[in-house]
Amino acid sequence: MAKEKLIPYIDVIACAGCSVCIENCPKDCLELSKPKFKGDIRTIAQQNDKDACIGCGICAKVCPIGAISMQRPGTVPEHIARPKEGNKMGKIYCRVFQAVMKVGNYFMGYRTPELVSEGPGSIKRLPEIILAKGVGNVLLVTDEGLVKIGVPSGLMEAMDAAGLKYTVFSEVQPNPTDLNVEAGLKAYKENGCEGIIAFGGGSPMDCAKGIAARIAHPNKTIPQLQGILKVHKKIVPFWAVPTTSGTGSETTVAAVITEAATHHKASINDPAILPKYAVLDPELTMGLPPFVTATTGMDALCHAVEAYTNHTYNTKVEDDMAKDAVKLIHDWLLKAYENGSDLEAREKMQYAAFYAGRAFTRGCVGYVHAVGHTLGGLYGVAHGLAMSVILPHVMRQFGSAVYDKLADLADVCGMEGETNEDKALAFIAWIDEMKQSMGLPAGFDCIKDEDIDQIIEWADKEANPLYPVPVVWGKDDFKRLIHTLRNAVY
Ligand SMILES: NC(=O)c1ccc[n+]([C@@H]2O[C@H](COP(=O)([O-])OP(=O)(O)OC[C@H]3O[C@@H](n4cnc5c(N)ncnc54)[C@H](O)[C@@H]3O)[C@@H](O)[C@H]2O)c1
Ligand code: SF4
Ligand code: SF4
Ligand SMILES: [Fe+2]
Repeated sequence: MAKEKLIPYIDVIACAGCSVCIENCPKDCLELSKPKFKGDIRTIAQQNDKDACIGCGICAKVCPIGAISMQRPGTVPEHIARPKEGNKMGKIYCRVFQAVMKVGNYFMGYRTPELVSEGPGSIKRLPEIILAKGVGNVLLVTDEGLVKIGVPSGLMEAMDAAGLKYTVFSEVQPNPTDLNVEAGLKAYKENGCEGIIAFGGGSPMDCAKGIAARIAHPNKTIPQLQGILKVHKKIVPFWAVPTTSGTGSETTVAAVITEAATHHKASINDPAILPKYAVLDPELTMGLPPFVTATTGMDALCHAVEAYTNHTYNTKVEDDMAKDAVKLIHDWLLKAYENGSDLEAREKMQYAAFYAGRAFTRGCVGYVHAVGHTLGGLYGVAHGLAMSVILPHVMRQFGSAVYDKLADLADVCGMEGETNEDKALAFIAWIDEMKQSMGLPAGFDCIKDEDIDQIIEWADKEANPLYPVPVVWGKDDFKRLIHTLRNAVY
């Protein structure tokens, strides 16, 4: 087998921008980065032409501070992926917290929502099911886009026919805010509702969960309910009906809501808001535009991959669900993207999102979500798009810490490789291929310099110590990821 060419990995935190590597490269394929703002003196070495690089390693040899390592493409030097130095106390605190949470998780009572109705056209049965529970008046939480294209009209007709009273609340924005929740709460009270149908993608479902949490806690604000186990009270009768195949919110303990005043996007995490009942009707997802199919599908992939590569909290149930979800996404997402009318592909993706959601509701998500949420809050980046872009970069940055787990997922998908490293790299390469086939970008150019410290602070606060990530990151690791996101090309 031909020896694989090694390429330079430049540590953006260490590089001092002295240009020695640039002057010595025989192929002129290195350059200094352009200043990002007026007065920016922190320019660093970067490769301007990856194809021209012959892998001679001269740049690594001449760098006076050892900021360059020659690496297999797609890999990160071990000292960066698994740093031994850094904030040791912080890392120990995270791991101790997670060990305590693992024990707590056994008493948490994770459950899977009852699928009260499944299959094409099954939404029409929901009104009778609700009436049978003794609920006669519901708030239908959805969004304006869905109402305009008539996705909830079949359900509304069925409610009219069955004599179930309802009020439509559709003032939910993508990346819903606490103000959306308050408006929904008002509608619930003013109309004497007795239960909620959460109908839509993650945004209406999370807003509906927020409304339910606020009904349970009339004197608390959404920011006060965000965090872990702050709801802890029974919520009103609640039926979740997903119309995208991504977030899995119909089966998760989370409601992700942005505080309108600060743009801080954060999650309520509490088994109390895990829906008791869900309906999976693939016909509702048939009208999803290709871009939304792609990004929400990648969100589901991200849930499965983060839950599976995390350690500590998962049981075999979550691991198996994550694997099932990855296999379904591997086999069906591109089909659903290429032909939105493929009912079988739509149905498979709906189950993939459901399993992945259930997997991460105990296994947790990780740094892809923690950083992605900040981009949703600050710049309104669609959640699934943020996930698609960030996922492969985080997995690469975790390095060898995730090779065994990613190799398992590669096996599930039938990918080949001689070692677990080979398989893991094949799996990450497949994510990049999927992204490219669906026209999704490699990186982001929306991240502003002045926001970087805020992004790191919020991401760190969201993830550490709660998420049992494979490697606990400090500030520099987040900075490396942000640099990668801003400079990524396929
Ligand atoms: N609660 C959780 O566990 C969880 C997990 C992941 C993400 N989220 C959150 O979910 C939100 C994102 O949800 P999403 O990705 O499902 O998108 P979304 O709910 O914001 O919907 C995106 C767009 O798709 C449209 N749409 C939805 N269903 C459609 C259909 N069937 N046909 C045509 N158009 C349709 C909507 O009108 C909207 O314009 C984010 O706020 C994210 O943070 C929550
Ligand atoms: S490995 Fe050689 S060709 Fe490639 S960037 Fe370094 S010095 Fe240039
Ligand atoms: S020689 Fe090293 S420190 Fe100098 S620009 Fe290159 S990578 Fe940076
Ligand atoms: Fe997500």
